[in-house]
Amino acid sequence: MNAPLSNQRIIVGVSGGIAAYKAVVLVRRLIEAGCEVRVVMTEAATRFVAPLSFQAVSGHPVRTTLLDAEAESGMDHIALARWADAVVVAPASANLMARLANGFADDLLTTLCLATSAPVHLAPAMNRQMWAHPATRANRDRLVEHGVTLLGPAAGAQACGETGEGRMLEPEVIVEAIVEALADALVANARPDLAGRHVVVTAGGTREPIDPVRFIANRSSGRMGFALAAEAARRGAAVTLIAGPSALPTPAGVERVDVETAAEMQAAVESIGAMDIFVGAAAVADYRVAAPADHKLKKSGETLSLELVPNPDIIRRVAERAERPFVIGFAAETDHVREYAAAKRVAKGMDLICANEVGAGKGFDRPDNALLLLWDGGEHELPQADKTRLAGEIFDTYHQITQD
Ligand code: PMT
Repeated sequence: MNAPLSNQRIIVGVSGGIAAYKAVVLVRRLIEAGCEVRVVMTEAATRFVAPLSFQAVSGHPVRTTLLDAEAESGMDHIALARWADAVVVAPASANLMARLANGFADDLLTTLCLATSAPVHLAPAMNRQMWAHPATRANRDRLVEHGVTLLGPAAGAQACGETGEGRMLEPEVIVEAIVEALADALVANARPDLAGRHVVVTAGGTREPIDPVRFIANRSSGRMGFALAAEAARRGAAVTLIAGPSALPTPAGVERVDVETAAEMQAAVESIGAMDIFVGAAAVADYRVAAPADHKLKKSGETLSLELVPNPDIIRRVAERAERPFVIGFAAETDHVREYAAAKRVAKGMDLICANEVGAGKGFDRPDNALLLLWDGGEHELPQADKTRLAGEIFDTYHQITQD
C-alpha cells in the first residue's frame, strides 16, 4: 500500500446491497491509513447492515436521513459536504448510480454527492446482468463524464450465485486507490510556501522510566505534532519528525525518528544541524527519575518516594543556538493560559507560542483543539478546529510574522 495519509477526511457512502458488509472493513482500513471517516447510509443500506456497526468502527454517529434535526444542528449536510476531502460510495448499487447520473438529490447521500466539491469515487456492486444492462452502462458513462471515478467492479462469483462482472472491489484495493488519489491531490493542491526549508517537529509525550516495566508519561497522542509535520511536508518543506511513542502513521513525505525519553528527544534534536523552523509540539516531561531501578520494583506496603531531577529544556536550547531557526513552541496550561504562555514564550526564547488549555477533555488526545497564538507584538485566536487546519494556520502565521 502507498504511504498512509494523516487527517484526510472521507465520507463513506453506503447504498443498499449485499456488499454493504464489506464497507465496514473499508471504514476500518481507511482509519488505519490515517483518515478520519464519517459514514452516510441510504435507507436501503440500513436493511443490510445496522448503522451501529459503522458507528462502532468509525467512532462517529452514522447519518441516514437528510432532514435529521439533531444532526443538522451539529454539522448540516452542506457543512458535511464541505468537510470531506473525498467521498467514497461503496457499494454503489445500480439504483444509486442511476439517481446520481440524473442529478437526483432525494436523500442525504445523493445530496452530498451533488453538494461536495471533493472528488467522488464509486465502487459499483451488482448482479452481472444489471451491470451489463445498457441503462447502467449509460449511467456509468454519464457519471464518468461528470468527473466521478469508478473503482471496479471486479469479476468473479456473485452473491446471487452467478459468475461475472459486478462484484465490489475488496476493501483493501479500494483503500489503495483512495490513498493514491488523495496523495496526488495533496501534491497538486499544495502551496509550496515552505519549499527549500528544513522543518523539525517534536511530537507526542515522553516516557521517563521508573524501572524496566514502569514509566512516567502524559496524555499527549502526538496528533498535533503529526499534523504540523504533515502540513509542512504538504507545503514543500523537508521535514524531520521526532516522535515520542505514538501509534499514528507517519505522514507522507516525512522522515520520522522515534524516541522514548526526553533525553533521547533532546539527543535527536541536537544531532540535527541546520534547520529553518523548529516546532516543539511535544509534551516533554519536565522531570525524570534520578536513578531508574534496573529491576522491577517490588511492592512493600511502605510508601515509595521517587527522586525526580529536571530534564533539559529542548526548545530553549534550540532557541539559544548561534544559528537559530524560527522557534515555534506550545504552552499547555490548565489556567491563566494567556499570562503563563506569554511568560513562557519570553523565558524560552520562542518566536511564536501556541497556547492551549488542557485538562478536562481539552487539548490532549483529540482531533481538534483551540489555540491562542502569541508573538512579539501580535496575537491571533484560533477557535476550535481540527488539528490539520490549526497546523495550516500556524504556518500561515509564521509567514505573517517573518513576512516571507
Ligand atoms: O499530542 P496531542 O494529543 O495532539 O496534544 C497536543 C498537545 C496538548 C500536547 C500540544 O498542543 C501541546 O500543548 N504541546 C506542548 C505540551 C507541553 O509540554 O507544554 P509545556 O507548557 O510543558 O512546554 C512548553 C514548551 O516547551 C513546549 O513547546 C514543549 O515542547 C517545550 N519543552 C518542555 C519541556 C522540556 N523539557 N523541553 C521542551 O522543549
